[in-house]
Amino acid sequence: MKVKDWIYPQATEIDTARDLEIIKKYLPKKGLVLDAGGGLGRIAIPLAKLGLRVVLLDISRTAINFAKERAKKENVLNRIEFVEGDVCNLPFSDNHFDLVLALRDVINFSADQKRAAEELIRVLKPNHYLIVSVTNKAFWLTKLERWNYNLEKIKSILGTKSMLTEKELRNLFKGIKIEKIVGSGYCSGNIPENFITSFEDFLKIENFVGDDEELKFTCEYLVLIGEKRG
Ligand SMILES: C[S@@+](CC[C@H](N)C(=O)[O-])C[C@H]1O[C@@H](n2cnc3c(N)ncnc32)[C@H](O)[C@@H]1O
Repeated sequence: MKVKDWIYPQATEIDTARDLEIIKKYLPKKGLVLDAGGGLGRIAIPLAKLGLRVVLLDISRTAINFAKERAKKENVLNRIEFVEGDVCNLPFSDNHFDLVLALRDVINFSADQKRAAEELIRVLKPNHYLIVSVTNKAFWLTKLERWNYNLEKIKSILGTKSMLTEKELRNLFKGIKIEKIVGSGYCSGNIPENFITSFEDFLKIENFVGDDEELKFTCEYLVLIGEKRG
């Protein structure tokens, strides 16, 4: 995958704002945040700008180098530690972080999803929060034109592990107390770029749809928020 494939247009800026809105409530006053599979620093950099210390871990050296450059430009290099590593085998001690994030397809693209979930929980301090997002299988099942309206292809999506249903996501994280699962990526998943005339108005739509128990299934991502038991 080329780095430029991940540079997001305006619709995705809206769901980045949405993700930050979700995370905001769970930010520690001080302490250390893990952004596992943090990629280009989409989330780590704004959190560092808020004054938090962040560890951005990613399996891709190219992504890390790009994120470093961005962090330098944004003057937050001193608040982010960059670690090349695998979410299935995190190089940190138990109960180490005050908040653990793994947003957008980190878990679902890893070699062992169960192990990745266990590792994320292991490095989180008890009574602290974990926020994970995965591609929402229900969303892609509505895009039937993509599967050529072909029953066998549609069935094959049901079996894929690269996207998850809410039930599959809950199952992976049954080791923690799940507070809620919300949606993110309504705008980027459904609204053509040139329709987005006002960032504020569409962010309101994004938040409304994502927070609704039924409408959230129209979002491209499901976001799980859970607390590690003490
Ligand atoms: C779609 S990007 C999302 C990046 C970032 N979390 C965000 O929300 O913008 C997925 C990232 O997960 C990383 N990744 C995939 N498998 C991984 C693994 N096993 N361990 C660590 N990072 C991984 C990829 O290199 C990529 O940077």
